[in-house]
Amino acid sequence: MEVFNVEKISYTYKNGKTAVDGVSFSVANGESLTIIGTNGSGKSTLLYLLDGLLIPESGSMRIFGKDASNGFLSDFRQRISLLFQNPHAQLFLLSVWDELCFGPSQLELDKAEIQKRAEDILGLFGIEHLRDRGPWDLSGGEMKKVALGTCLSINPDVLLLDEPTTGLDPRSQVEIVDLINELRKAGKTIITATHDLGIIEDISDRTIVLGEDHRILLQGKPWVVMADTETLLQANLIHRHVHRHCWYVHEHSHSGRHEHEHMVLHDVLTSPPSPPSTEGRHGGVNEEGVLKMTDLEKLKKLLEHWAEHNEEHVSTYLEWAEKADASGEKELYKILREIAENTKKMDGLFEKAKKIIESK
Ligand SMILES: Nc1ncnc2c1ncn2[C@@H]1O[C@H](COP(=O)(O)OP(=O)(O)OP(=O)(O)O)[C@@H](O)[C@H]1O
Ligand SMILES: [Mg+2]
Repeated sequence: MEVFNVEKISYTYKNGKTAVDGVSFSVANGESLTIIGTNGSGKSTLLYLLDGLLIPESGSMRIFGKDASNGFLSDFRQRISLLFQNPHAQLFLLSVWDELCFGPSQLELDKAEIQKRAEDILGLFGIEHLRDRGPWDLSGGEMKKVALGTCLSINPDVLLLDEPTTGLDPRSQVEIVDLINELRKAGKTIITATHDLGIIEDISDRTIVLGEDHRILLQGKPWVVMADTETLLQANLIHRHVHRHCWYVHEHSHSGRHEHEHMVLHDVLTSPPSPPSTEGRHGGVNEEGVLKMTDLEKLKKLLEHWAEHNEEHVSTYLEWAEKADASGEKELYKILREIAENTKKMDGLFEKAKKIIESK
């Protein structure tokens, strides 16, 4: 059964700012979807539309098979829960305990059940010590956990999570990733808007990339999306990062973590950039040094550089092979393994070539 089915929905704020433009997708029951896109691409607005806080100005929207194009149906209220990007928008009571009891109390559960749910959430996030604190006095990360706790307290079928890991320390981020996976196992439908490209493969079955024009640029399996460097660059989600290795320049794509899709844009032997003049880096070669280098010396430097990056490339091919395997892409898995093995063998070749040069 489809939980959401949206067809060409658009939304423009009163100030004339279009935030979502002709977006179509569907989400199956129990599916975990991530929405990625640069600042202002419309992720939060899209979640507000799915949560019924905003009504699309055009297009159609079905939720749990019912038409919700002209407004949210009240029986969805307790089945869908939104974690706001900014927890200040979520918390409004005098204590954490009250916050955690509020949702269940709206469901008209008995007092013992309400308290049990609040206790369970405190335990789940390890925030028992915050029970009597005012939500406004908490740190950003603590507030985020309490806000997520309030979402879970009503035990919804669908969670809309707006940047759930932003502002959390590394250990808490891992805990949130684990929690999302627990929720997936429990059969929840989860839609997560995030900038954290490093988690999308861990937490989702599918990823939508929103472009700066507020339209869908790409959707697919997260590992396929992550491999599409050009689209991620177009969406402004990764940046080209220039590495200067003294007299040769490499350009890599970075998503904030260690991505190894290395794109050699230019190499000084064909198109020399201005080399940095710092003596002592990469063998102490400066501009004058480069000019004086013989071809053999240049080749030796290049071989050292290729050897240095080879290991990284091998592990990247292996990572992608594992992902292909996990997605049932057996053929691709075999080819990527072969590429990795052949690349590994090249290490020895770099060394051999270097030795020949050194013996000259
Ligand atoms: N309340 C509002 N009034 C007017 N314009 C808004 C409002 N909220 C968002 N916008 C505009 O709508 C567009 C989409 O904003 P939205 O917050 O949905 O993007 P986002 O992808 O969630 O961004 P971020 O990564 O910064 O959270 C932006 O251009 C933004 O300036
Ligand atoms: Mg947002």
